[in-house]
Amino acid sequence: MNKLRLKDIIKTPEVVGIGNPVDVKGWVRSRRGNNFVQFIALNDGSIVTNLQVVADTAKFDEELFKQITTGSCIHVTGKLVESQGKGQNVEVQAETIEVYGTADPVLYPLQKKGHSMEFMREIAHLRLRTNYFGCVLRLRHAMAFAIHKFFNDRGFFYLHTPLITASDAEGAGEMFNVTTFDLNNIPRTEDGQIDYKQDFFGKHTNLTVSGQLEGELGAMALGNIYTFGPTFRAENSNTPRHLAEFWMIEPEMAFYDIKDNMDLAEEMLKYLIQYALDNNMDDLQFLSKRLQEEEKGKKEDEKSMELISKLHFVLEHEFVRLTYTEAIEILRNSNYNKKGKFQYPVTGWGIDLQSEHERYLVEKHFKKPVILTDYPKEIKAFYMKQNEDGKTVRAMDVLFPGIGEIIGGSEREADYEKLLNRVHELGMTEEQYWWYFDTRKFGSAPHSGYGLGFERLLLFVTGMSNIRDVIPFPRTPQNAEF
Ligand code: 4AD
Ligand code: MG
Repeated sequence: MNKLRLKDIIKTPEVVGIGNPVDVKGWVRSRRGNNFVQFIALNDGSIVTNLQVVADTAKFDEELFKQITTGSCIHVTGKLVESQGKGQNVEVQAETIEVYGTADPVLYPLQKKGHSMEFMREIAHLRLRTNYFGCVLRLRHAMAFAIHKFFNDRGFFYLHTPLITASDAEGAGEMFNVTTFDLNNIPRTEDGQIDYKQDFFGKHTNLTVSGQLEGELGAMALGNIYTFGPTFRAENSNTPRHLAEFWMIEPEMAFYDIKDNMDLAEEMLKYLIQYALDNNMDDLQFLSKRLQEEEKGKKEDEKSMELISKLHFVLEHEFVRLTYTEAIEILRNSNYNKKGKFQYPVTGWGIDLQSEHERYLVEKHFKKPVILTDYPKEIKAFYMKQNEDGKTVRAMDVLFPGIGEIIGGSEREADYEKLLNRVHELGMTEEQYWWYFDTRKFGSAPHSGYGLGFERLLLFVTGMSNIRDVIPFPRTPQNAEF
């Protein structure tokens, strides 16, 4: 059964046919009019544009219109006609209207336009119905679909990696425990340690921070794989770019070196942006208009580039590729650094880059996306391929304007001895990761991969400024309501 959605009527009225009967259902955005005629703006989520329903009051019981409030849900049958008014080509002349559910105008919180993002986070269960979030959610869907399409078209296999693991892939230790213990009565060993042997899995487990390690096992069997799933980090950072639960795409490729890895990352990001431009122009235009309105008060040099031009800009330019060492020199010698404008001054080689440094390189210095490579091994994870200099690893971070790091990845250390040495240096043991080490023992192969933060991608594509506004139900410190 193919039910008519408002998108079909608005985009292709000729297919539906002017003068033909239509049957539409949706939520009322607004109602206005007079004693003779009422105009109802209807939306069903399929498209950002509303469909205008025109009701001749003489045909309906007066009481009916009182129930057709902002937020209510109705079923309309009628005729598709060319619109007399401005703002739309077609409208529906109502013959019957059934109210599925009214919404009390005193209680329904989304009465007026222009609620703040903060307010809408408090009503995340209803904000999905706003035009704003409709656009974001349709783009979120489009990007997820395009990611699968991109990899599928290139012969990659979608691999499902576990959400519950016993390992800490990134070595950052910011993990959520998974246990069935009664927290008021945790079993202990004789020497007072928590006795995980008695726990559900017989060992200490946590929610995964990355599917990479298992992804590598897949690449060593299938060649090219990708994961796409939720990941969890208990970092207590309340920033506009961090979530405690976020989605990550992690491709892992046998026989790819760091350059192949960078090429794939750049090709993928451009593909996704092009896909959004090709398939979601209505949503992008709506978001762009809203953003421009928000920026009206700002000074010229504080305004960000218009959303659609910004997307085109990324498509048209090659990403700048440079090493961490080169980046540090640029940052250290920058006027910004000399004038003490960085919250974290760039003192010299070895420091971890903060988001402000990444954004300086992208937004102020190069004015283009940047791929940074060859970071000091101390600030990167144990699995990265070690360079000949003994100091750096073959890491790559892709940095985007307005965001900073959007992708983190590397060529992987494929040499068993080198990997073992690094693990020992970090105070870890081979036993913890014995199954990971087996890939280096049995048919080891050069390989690479990366992780794209799905919500960071969406921040870029939607132009939103807070990561809480590109995921339907954000999880952040002190916040898991909906
Ligand atoms: O740089 P990260 O930590 O890399 C990894 O997890 C690797 N295992 C990926 C790989 O090589 N397969 O995270 C990858 C990306 C970041 O670049 C960022 O976009 C996103 O994940 N990310 C977050 N997004 C939202 N909230 C957080 N707390 C995030 N932490 C990382
Ligand atoms: Mg990273």
